[in-house]
Amino acid sequence: MKVLVIGSGGREHALAWKLTSSPQVQMVYVAPGNAGISLDKNLQTLPLTDTVALREWAQAHDIGLTVVGPEAPLAAGVVDEFRAHGLRIFGPTQAAAQLESSKAFSKAFMQRHHISTAAFQVFEEADQAHAYVDAQGAPIVVKADGLAAGKGVVVATTVQEAHQAIDHMLALDHTGIQHTRGKPRVVIEEWLDGEEASFMVVAKGLQALALATSQDHKRLLDGDLGPNTGGMGAYSPAAVVTPEIHARVMREVIQPTLKGMMSDGIPYTGFLYAGLMISPTGQIKVLEFNCRMGDPETQPILMRLKSDLLTLLLAATDDAVGDLTQVDVEWDRRVALGVVMAAHGYPQTVRKGDAISGLPPADAHAVVFHAATQREGQQLVTAGGRVLCVTALGDTVRQAQSVAYSLVDQIHFDGAQVRRDIGHRAIKR
Ligand code: AMP
Ligand code: GLY
Repeated sequence: MKVLVIGSGGREHALAWKLTSSPQVQMVYVAPGNAGISLDKNLQTLPLTDTVALREWAQAHDIGLTVVGPEAPLAAGVVDEFRAHGLRIFGPTQAAAQLESSKAFSKAFMQRHHISTAAFQVFEEADQAHAYVDAQGAPIVVKADGLAAGKGVVVATTVQEAHQAIDHMLALDHTGIQHTRGKPRVVIEEWLDGEEASFMVVAKGLQALALATSQDHKRLLDGDLGPNTGGMGAYSPAAVVTPEIHARVMREVIQPTLKGMMSDGIPYTGFLYAGLMISPTGQIKVLEFNCRMGDPETQPILMRLKSDLLTLLLAATDDAVGDLTQVDVEWDRRVALGVVMAAHGYPQTVRKGDAISGLPPADAHAVVFHAATQREGQQLVTAGGRVLCVTALGDTVRQAQSVAYSLVDQIHFDGAQVRRDIGHRAIKR
């Protein structure tokens, strides 16, 4: 079978890398992909991003399955377009993708279906938002209502910081945030204490099959300091998700979400990612939903997946295949840990074009997944914020960490930003 993966990041490199190991897969095309993807055997990149162009290409090239990596094509309706032409694609429809693309939608959804989340209010008027912050005090969290690549959230430790965030997010156009409606809105919510975990499932209607758990590192700097980013590193499994918490997340979050989507008339098929905050007393609250896999969480998760990903995704897209939850999925017992190498200036104004050197060859225990890389002649150069994700397996978190960092230390590009403490919470346990 020929498979198409849509996207260009480390997550898509990992999805494509895993899919090529399937005995049923002949070739994986990644659109638009990146320079690292085009280096791999059985992987080919395509310079396409437009929804209709992708659908036409998939039809003309007999693509058996399309997998969508990022949120933007989902929010643009790529799944609706493919399905309308009878093509098999894994991901939620445009309507279902609102669970991620609009914070206001997802917060109202959680309220309606009794899924535990931080208390919140939505504002269009700056005056009212400022008054609310003054009444609530800090710490408090300000979120833009629209896709912002993980950068539309400010966890304000002071009231002043919250006021600044409101003014920035309610100003049109120059924020880089894709507002879901004409007028910008902010969601202001209660600050939650606890430890975060990324909980992802493969969903088909009311059926959900949980993937391995993971933990991301959202802040730019060691010790969870600095601005929020798309994620600076991740590991799997996340020890904070004990078997008891796992069962409760399925019962209290995942199942009510799938039921709620069904009863609201927008059944959900695709990866569903619940970003959780687990309080010191074991309370579970949903910080956000994503309608896709996490980046960089996908990289360590898929390094631990021993079963065939294609078989799983075919079961999730084929109505004739009975119960998705009966598909046998086996995980490597070892820990996988990925360290992101980001470009100079990330997550603000990113510098591009720095030459990358020292890339080690992939082996069975470590893979360098590419994200924003491109080729200039013979030279590999940086092409955006997150450049590489160096991912390694080990018997313990420390061992996986030590392999990953020994590879990171061999790789060079000017201005590289790397956190040195990925996995610190697991090590502290
Ligand atoms: P989100 O995109 O909504 O997941 O927010 C990005 C990050 O901001 C999360 O991963 C958390 O680290 C942090 N965050 C978001 N909402 C809250 C909250 N209510 N309390 C504390 N931290 C939060
Ligand atoms: N790494 C967090 C996310 O993909 O949303």
